Order: sequence, then structure tokens, then C-alpha cells
Amino acid sequence: MQILCVTQDFPPNSGGIAVFLHNLCVQLSRLGHLVDVVTPTRKGCVEVDVSQPYRVYRYDCFRWLSCIVPFCRMMIMHKQRHYDVIFIGQFMTTHAMGALVLRRLLRVPYVILSHGNDMHYCISNWIDKPVAYMILHNASLILSNSHTTAKHIQQRGYQGPIQILHPGVKADEFRPNMDTLEVVKKYKLNGRRVVLSVSRLVARKGHDSVLRALPNVVKQIHNVLYLIVGQGKEETRLRRLVTELNLDKYVLFAGYVEQKILPALYCICDVFVMPSFALDGGHDYEGFGIVYIEANACGKPVIGGKSGGIEDAVIDGITGLLVNPDDVEKISKTITMLLKDKKYASELGKNGRNRVECELDWEIVGKKIEEILVNIVS
Ligand code: GDD
Repeated sequence: MQILCVTQDFPPNSGGIAVFLHNLCVQLSRLGHLVDVVTPTRKGCVEVDVSQPYRVYRYDCFRWLSCIVPFCRMMIMHKQRHYDVIFIGQFMTTHAMGALVLRRLLRVPYVILSHGNDMHYCISNWIDKPVAYMILHNASLILSNSHTTAKHIQQRGYQGPIQILHPGVKADEFRPNMDTLEVVKKYKLNGRRVVLSVSRLVARKGHDSVLRALPNVVKQIHNVLYLIVGQGKEETRLRRLVTELNLDKYVLFAGYVEQKILPALYCICDVFVMPSFALDGGHDYEGFGIVYIEANACGKPVIGGKSGGIEDAVIDGITGLLVNPDDVEKISKTITMLLKDKKYASELGKNGRNRVECELDWEIVGKKIEEILVNIVS
């Protein structure tokens, strides 16, 4: 197949959408398909693009041209390559316009992958709304990262075909028992019980609640350390909260860490925690949460928030535990329990690893997307 992927969010951007789309493109290319990606220019993209098995076509995005430039790009590229299918990486009217026109004029099918809040923010804008509905109803298929995201799309009045496609994880890169010497030294983790969060530092990830839960954990586990990996606009506020709660000895902000040390950081932790919750009247929510399955892939138990699509990422009582994200006391009890009961913690971690190997390795997800696209094309 010849596949054109269109997206605004792609490496070197960090975050789940970029990780999801990059890995789908890698897998489809490895399965022998030609994959072209059209996406805006970002700082550092040249270095990233050259080493990929797919081709990336960048364009500079000026505000008022954000619709026209990718539209023209797609028309020109389709004229040269005659794509079999267009893959819209996240719900965006500006990027999907080209796909809509190619569908109407030349019957080129397209699918859209939705991640959670992308569709809501598109449809809530009155200028985009009619176009968004047209794009939605002309799609051959909507893919959704979780059952919750699918439900949100259907609540918007969409009754066409919809299928769940969970993101995956590289099971050979994120694996248990990796060499952690370097990270122990770098972050001075020797003798500490580590509770870990990995994410962009945005409000909905729930770092706040973990910090408020921490004083009670400290009372029972004196050598605990809450390691916060990732960067974002919430950092200053979170640092202030750490000082207010007198937790400076128990919290470490690692900032954005290089990909090559991330698996070892998961391996060094005792518990992974991210009690994400929904914001903006339920519209800004965790669509799935790749980080939970990355931690599971490293054999670690996870604690997630009972909110959004996390139930698809964390199987409650099997691969981790779900808590009410507002219940600070429950968060603190759950962290303490998993730090104390090493046998139970390890059982959850092992189940998580098994699930990743059986269902969520990128190679498995890659074959799924291939099958879906082949069906659409044929
Ligand atoms: N190397 C590195 N360093 N990677 C990081 C760092 C860091 O400091 N911080 C976060 N990441 C990576 C994680 O390892 C993970 O692969 C990704 O960024 C975060 O993905 P998600 O946990 O899925 O969260 P998101 O909010 O960025 O992603 C959105 O789309 C996803 C895909 O559909 C959300 O809607 C998610 O819920 C959804 O799973």
C-alpha cells in the first residue's frame, strides 16, 4: 500500500500522539508499505527525519496559511504517488481538508485516529464545526485510542464505523531487570524506594494529588522518593507545592530525560503512579496513557486515575490499581500498600509485562493497523 499520514503532532515533538504515530509509521514501513508523512517543520526535525524508514515532508506553518499549505502539499503529493489511503493522525480540520477533497473528487479513502480531546476542541470551535462534521462523516473509519474516546465521539452524533486501536510499547526496549547502575548514580537513588511519574507536566496528570498524598507515605516509608520525569508549564507550581509541603528531601524533578535512559528509570522504580483526572468539564481527559504500559513492560505495578480511557491501559487489580484521582488518602494508602507488599506489587508488574507481550507490543499493533488499512483499501 501507499499511505499518506497527515498530522500536526510528530517527532521531535514529545508526548503520546507523536509516539503513537511515529511507531505506526515505523511498523507499516517495516511491513513493506510506502509511508509518507506530511507535518509542520519543528526545531531539530532534520536530524530526526533522516533516520526514519518512512519519508517526512515538512512545511512551515504560518497562522493564516495553516489550512492551505498542507492542503496544497497533499494534492501535489497525491498527483505524484497515487496513495491508496490517507491516515489522519489526529482530528484537525486544517489538516484533514485535503483528505476530504481527495475523497470527494478521487474516492481516496481516509481514516482518522482520535486521541481524546482532539475532536472536542475541533468541534467546539464554531468556524471549524461544520467542516469537522463533514470530515467525520466522510471518513471510511474512525480509530480511537480507547473505549472512552470512542464513546465521546459517538456522543457527538457520529454513528459510522469506529474501531479501537490501543497504542503500544517497544517490548524489547522497555523490559524488566535492565542495568540501572547509571541512573542510580546520576539521580542518587541508592537506598531509596522510588515512586515514579513520567509525563508532560500538565495539570490533568495529577502530580498534585501524589504530592499531597506523599506526607502520609513518608510516615511509613522513610526512604521513599517521588521521582518526577518530564517537563511542562506546571513545573514551577509543583516545585512551590513541594516546598509548601516540606517535601524537598522526598521529591526529585528530573526534567525531560533522554529516551535511552527512560527504560532504566522505569526499572528502578517500585511503583509507577499517575492519577490523571479530567478537566474542562470532562473534555480534557487522559485518552489512554502510554506511560502505564511502558511501566508495565518493565515489570512495574501502576496506579492510575479512574478517569478517561485509563481503564483500557490499566486493568484494575490485574496490571495495576485504579483510584479516584481526587481521593488523596486512597492514593497515599495504595502507594504505601504497594511499597510494603512487594509480592503483590511484583505480581501486578508481571501481569502487566505479559499483557504487553501478548497484546501491546508495537509489532502486534502494527499488524492490526495494517489489517485495518488493507480492509479499507480493498
Ligand atoms: N524520553 C522521554 N522523556 N519521554 C517522555 C518524557 C520524558 O521526559 N515525558 C513523557 N515522555 C513520553 C512517554 O514515555 C510516553 O511515551 C509519552 O511521552 C506520553 O504519552 P502518554 O502517556 O500517552 O500521554 P500524552 O498526554 O502525551 O498523550 C495523549 O495521546 C496518547 C496517545 O493516544 C493522551 O491522550 C494519552 O492518554 C494517549 O495515550
